[in-house]
Amino acid sequence: MKIGIIGAMDCEVDGLKEKINNIKTEKYSNNSFCCGQIYGKEVVVAKCGEGKVNAAVTAQTMILKYNPDIIINSGVAGGLHPNMKVFDIALAENVCQHDADSTPLGVELGYVFGINKVYIKTDDKLNNMIENAAKKVCNSKIFRGTIASGDQFIAGDEQRIRIKNNFNAIAAEMEGAAVGHVCDLNKKRFTVLRAISDSADSDGAMSFETFAVKAAEISINILLEFIKSI
Ligand code: ADE
Repeated sequence: MKIGIIGAMDCEVDGLKEKINNIKTEKYSNNSFCCGQIYGKEVVVAKCGEGKVNAAVTAQTMILKYNPDIIINSGVAGGLHPNMKVFDIALAENVCQHDADSTPLGVELGYVFGINKVYIKTDDKLNNMIENAAKKVCNSKIFRGTIASGDQFIAGDEQRIRIKNNFNAIAAEMEGAAVGHVCDLNKKRFTVLRAISDSADSDGAMSFETFAVKAAEISINILLEFIKSI
């Protein structure tokens, strides 16, 4: 089984790249794809940059060039669930694009053309394995639910409440649903794993600056345990 991992920022992938044996790096569309083995399992790890289009380009390239069996989008997110705290875990049951709005055409808010739906389901088996790995390596609380993506850093009550209420989302970030969109088109098993770096409120940017690196490390540790376990 070859595992594909995509993160937006260096701190979301560097800790994984360091663990790759027989590492081989190739560049496509200005993104580095690092492949080799972690704990003897085939992996390909790429940093995509922030935002949905960057994530989609990387996911599609990864599928065409490396054909992983599964793709995990890992990193940090803003927590939307009222009980969520910094360093808790959000694991996606499904993903959606909170900034997709073609409602004047009579479609639902969040409707994505091409895949023709709002919510993209993630892989249950993968989620169960990742949850088990998370329980082993950290004592963060694990929340499973909808993760909403958009090309916006959420840092205010108006935005966070809108996303939470419109999509019943537990966390907001900027890439997961784009990876999901591409995986859905390619019938590829995928999920999104995020550690919370901020509460997407007015302190969001400062909290992100302070906690993103540590939160990203938590997500990486869970992935390493997951890779070990399969
Ligand atoms: N990633 C981490 N925190 C975020 C936020 N508040 N909004 C969007 N993406 C994020």
